[in-house]
Amino acid sequence: MRNFLQLFPELRTWTQTLDLEQAHRLCQSFEKIPFREWQALKIVSQKAFKKKSLPAKRWMQPACFTLEDRRVQSTLWQQAESRGIQHLRHGKVAALTVAGGLGTRLGFPGPKGLVLVTPLKRKTLFQVFAEKLRAIEKLYGVRMHWFIMTSSDTHEATWEAFQKNHWYDTQYLHLFQQGELPAFTMDGICLLTDEPRVNYYPDGHGGVFKALASTGCLDKMSEYGIETLSYFQVDNPLVYVCDCHFLGLHLDRVSDFSTKVVTKTSADEKVGVFVNTEDVLRLLEYSEMPEFLSVKKTKEGQLYFKFGNTAMHLIQRSFLEAMAEEKLPIHITCKTMQHWHPLRQSHCATSCQKLEYFIFDALPFAKNPLLLEVDRKEEFSPVKNTQGQDSLDTCMRDQISRWNRWFVNCGLNVDHGDKEINNAYYLEISPLFADDYISFKKMWNALVTKPGCFENLYLE
Ligand code: UTP
Repeated sequence: MRNFLQLFPELRTWTQTLDLEQAHRLCQSFEKIPFREWQALKIVSQKAFKKKSLPAKRWMQPACFTLEDRRVQSTLWQQAESRGIQHLRHGKVAALTVAGGLGTRLGFPGPKGLVLVTPLKRKTLFQVFAEKLRAIEKLYGVRMHWFIMTSSDTHEATWEAFQKNHWYDTQYLHLFQQGELPAFTMDGICLLTDEPRVNYYPDGHGGVFKALASTGCLDKMSEYGIETLSYFQVDNPLVYVCDCHFLGLHLDRVSDFSTKVVTKTSADEKVGVFVNTEDVLRLLEYSEMPEFLSVKKTKEGQLYFKFGNTAMHLIQRSFLEAMAEEKLPIHITCKTMQHWHPLRQSHCATSCQKLEYFIFDALPFAKNPLLLEVDRKEEFSPVKNTQGQDSLDTCMRDQISRWNRWFVNCGLNVDHGDKEINNAYYLEISPLFADDYISFKKMWNALVTKPGCFENLYLE
């Protein structure tokens, strides 16, 4: 108890009211992490939200393989695809999904992967991803291992959902749990439960390195001959898993860590942005980006720092192994969190400091990192918020627009492709039928009997 009170003296009077068993439980939960680490975390929390002056480095736009480069360097683009296909066919690629987040902004009661995301069949995000992986298995004749990171908050419900749904017909699934960190009130007191215990929370997507190592998943990957991980977040049903062009470019460049980017829609879009400082590629969270840099324009009037993060990465297993040994910095995000207030003796939801590791802090350690620009309309529409931008509504609209656009591009009489959801045909295409326009065109042309009506059409 002495150590606990040394860090949180405000709780001295309250701890005197605890019986022996309660005090023991509290101490046990506190000792889950070493005291030295507690001291370091407390210092991080005290420094939070103090305006950081960014070092005066030269901020440059990073190099990126753009949509235009794809057109101009079409031979290279095609060769990259062949190389990617080969890698995939040899069973050297697996999927890695991070699904341990609390999903506070969405407020969905359960793991975000269970949000019913598709318009017609109301499939969950997990089912959509499972179908993508099954389609790859069929197309390339390989086993697709799928590693999913959960947290103490999402693990049980995720496991139960997969079990109830017969693993969504996937065969090589590996669920593993991430680590945890405490959180603090704005006054710097650690969050507690009413038992009383110290409450711990998922340690951020950057916790993936340590979690893969500590749960034995890195060993499994090595055993299965997996060399490259197609990493994606649980919230984007448009993700193009194991994109062979992307894979090929990543391998050609001998990159440790590659990322798909989209062009920012406006200076204030809430998305992390890639910058180069002293020849090192970094990702700056929108909250950390100084305004003069966010609004900086090129001569042509475009945003100078325009490459927004989609969190779709290709990561080499060898790099995951190396990063499991590194210490990443801790970020503090301000979130409304439920907790038990020992002084008020009641539960409350207040603005708190959540401590997290971010995966992109690994970037400066990566050799030859590659950025590939992709078309947002085709690949990126995350479900983050209850309403407005990046909500379930915008995501459904984007899925429908994408499928309508594929019909238009095939020369079919659907002239609503880019319009609002109200004007587009309400339809759904399973990844098992096609997951990109080129495959869609092939599949559609091969259909002997074509459906005559698009409204409520489902293709699988
Ligand atoms: P977000 O940054 O969107 O966070 O996570 P979140 O926790 O899901 O949602 P909010 O911010 O509370 O509303 C991006 C991705 O990283 C995963 C999430 O599951 C999501 O796929 N993630 C986040 C983890 O796996 N673990 C974490 O500790 C945090």
